[in-house]
Amino acid sequence: MQWRYCTRPADREAVRTLVTATGFFSAEEVEIAVELVDDALAHGESSDYRCVFADAPGGALIGYACYGPIAPGSCEFDLYWIAVAPAGQRRGIGRALLRETERRARAAGAKTMLIDTAGRAQYAPTRAFYEHMGYRVHEVAANFYAADDDKVIYRKRI
Ligand SMILES: CC(C)(COP(=O)(O)OP(=O)(O)OC[C@H]1O[C@@H](n2cnc3c(N)ncnc32)[C@H](O)[C@@H]1OP(=O)(O)O)[C@@H](O)C(=O)NCCC(=O)NCCS
Repeated sequence: MQWRYCTRPADREAVRTLVTATGFFSAEEVEIAVELVDDALAHGESSDYRCVFADAPGGALIGYACYGPIAPGSCEFDLYWIAVAPAGQRRGIGRALLRETERRARAAGAKTMLIDTAGRAQYAPTRAFYEHMGYRVHEVAANFYAADDDKVIYRKRI
């Protein structure tokens, strides 16, 4: 597996395919993931949406994360997206990817990382993953996404 930080045009479709394959995201959310890639493609280093791509030895995308400061110049960063291809899950790729993302964010001045996720049962493994990575619940917005589906905000000093 190799890290890559520059976004390529082919990442639009690779990210679309990867996030769709997880089965976790609505069509609307998939389009948002692609829009963040578009922003990174359009603005390069100056984009507010920075990416870490994990490429398999043959070059296929096996995971990616997207992050950035919550406001220009802020030392509080947001993890906008993280996903690992289903065939690669539960092998430590997500852990390595989030560690690498935190390292890049720190190098860019981040002191804390925030992550929004859902409270519904489908996201229990995702929340277990964040908690395993040292994130703690910072705030819960009850019924934010739907009745009985809270927004859970995790935070970690990185
Ligand atoms: C969340 C995600 C990125 C984790 O990636 P991953 O490569 O599968 O995770 P790792 O193998 O590095 O797991 C690290 C640790 O997290 C925890 N964890 C990961 N997946 C888990 C699961 N399904 N159930 C319980 N704990 C889990 C475990 O503690 C695991 O350590 P262990 O395998 O030694 O027990 C991946 O499962 C994914 O893409 N999920 C779908 C998309 C998603 O939910 N994205 C986040 C949206 S907010």
